Amino acid sequence: MTNATLTHRLAQRDDLDALKALMDAAISENLKAFLDADKIASSRAIMGLDTQLIDDGTYFIVQADGQMAGCGGWSRRATMYGGDQTPGRSAALLDPTKDAARIRAMYTHPQHTRKGIGRLIILLCEEAAKAEGFTKVELVATLSGEPLYRACGFEAYEKFVDERGGTAVPLLRMRKTLT
Ligand SMILES: CC(C)(COP(=O)(O)OP(=O)(O)OC[C@H]1O[C@@H](n2cnc3c(N)ncnc32)[C@H](O)[C@@H]1OP(=O)(O)O)[C@@H](O)C(=O)NCCC(=O)NCCS
Repeated sequence: MTNATLTHRLAQRDDLDALKALMDAAISENLKAFLDADKIASSRAIMGLDTQLIDDGTYFIVQADGQMAGCGGWSRRATMYGGDQTPGRSAALLDPTKDAARIRAMYTHPQHTRKGIGRLIILLCEEAAKAEGFTKVELVATLSGEPLYRACGFEAYEKFVDERGGTAVPLLRMRKTLT
């Protein structure tokens, strides 16, 4: 099998339908190895598309041989995780001299996992956050995301559960200092 050629660009509002389909497939398939069906159903309440990231110009799409294969982004705003439908979001701007930029909403289409797409998006996010003066990044990881973030140098510092979708979903706070 030849390696796919990966290219990237910023997401735009025109991409919304394709992004939703990609995220839906990633949640349905990629979480199966980590969570049972009830927890996957519950995860949908706290995962998914955050259009603020697209409007902020901080959300990337990676294409494999020209086809949308993964997405993910970063944020200079306070919300830690969740989609447009998730309660408790805050658009407050972070202070790069004190706060950690957020890594947000990482999804790879199940047909394109383990090709380095997640790793590429993390790199793009870190470079963009550094360019705005941030010296650290943090995120809330699903169990599916944890191996990627560890491979990218993040360390875990707090476990918790989110029950807002009905069944408790295990999550992990992780952080990294940018060098
Ligand atoms: C998390 C996710 C985005 C990873 O995307 P990906 O494009 O497959 O990740 P990469 O190919 O860049 O993986 C880089 C490294 O991370 C680690 N890794 C990634 N997925 C892994 C898995 N399922 N099991 C073990 N290690 C994994 C490996 O070290 C991998 O390197 P390797 O393939 O050379 O061994 C994808 O699995 C996904 O869509 N999950 C469902 C949605 C989700 O939970 N997102 C996270 C929200 S916090």
